Amino acid sequence: MIASAPGKVILFGEHAVVYGRHAVVSAINLRCYAKAEKASDITIESPLGKTSLDFKVHPYVSYAIKRFSEIRPVKGVYLKIWSDIPIASGLGSSSAVTVAVLKSLDLLFETNLSNEEIFELARKVELDVQGIGSGTDPFVSTFGGTWLIPERERIDIGDYLDLTVIYTGKASITSDMVRKVANLREMYGDVIERIFDAIDSISLRSISALKDRDFEALSFLVRTNQLLLKALGVSCREIDEIVNKLENLGIPAKITGAGGGGSVIALGSVDLDGYKCLSVSLNAEGVREEKV
Ligand code: PMV
Repeated sequence: MIASAPGKVILFGEHAVVYGRHAVVSAINLRCYAKAEKASDITIESPLGKTSLDFKVHPYVSYAIKRFSEIRPVKGVYLKIWSDIPIASGLGSSSAVTVAVLKSLDLLFETNLSNEEIFELARKVELDVQGIGSGTDPFVSTFGGTWLIPERERIDIGDYLDLTVIYTGKASITSDMVRKVANLREMYGDVIERIFDAIDSISLRSISALKDRDFEALSFLVRTNQLLLKALGVSCREIDEIVNKLENLGIPAKITGAGGGGSVIALGSVDLDGYKCLSVSLNAEGVREEKV
């Protein structure tokens, strides 16, 4: 049985969303795949290695098996994982693998879980591994589509908008960046709260810009969100370099996710010399069975 689940991009609103402001996130057409077969013991095979239940090498997959076992005990399974989604790049690879594994187990053991139930399990796995987390990544990976956060209101934008994800080559450590912003807020609360408010307005404005395919507005919103993220201290030399190079080509770009490394998203399809560029489309389908 093969299942797959999508990664995601944060289009607008990262960091401000931690302080109750709005963000817009969308599932992308890069997916993680999990193939589950009956076996006498547990084996997990992925680009990270081949292990049995192993909470160090395969934390998300191992906790997914553990949480699924609370519904239907798993004594043996052979799980093979492969993925289009680069790891530690802010594209939701951890949630995608969790959701894909849960669905593949559901199919193999015929437990008939609803997407709500798969999401609830994936949410528990996120907390098992990370201790904290907003639940947004497992939510978007399970249900697909484009969403206004924190309301979880679906935004109907179709899949016309192509983006390019450009990887900085530097890992992004979400907890470090969240702490950095928290420190800045501690020192300059009055200033930082206003930056959050401006980002909130950007996320809300983006809804009609996305629906109306208003590229002029989207360009302004992308550029301004990036400037505000830079003001929050979550850009870095590598990100600035990519954003500036794209800006010289007239292409608006911003951080997606926590920053400090990770990925930049640019409007449209571009190929930037010397960088790993992935062309992605938005509003991808959520978790699904892959027929072979
Ligand atoms: O890089 P990611 O996908 O982990 O995104 C982090 C987004 C933040 O707003 C910085 C943190 C959060 O929990 O929302």
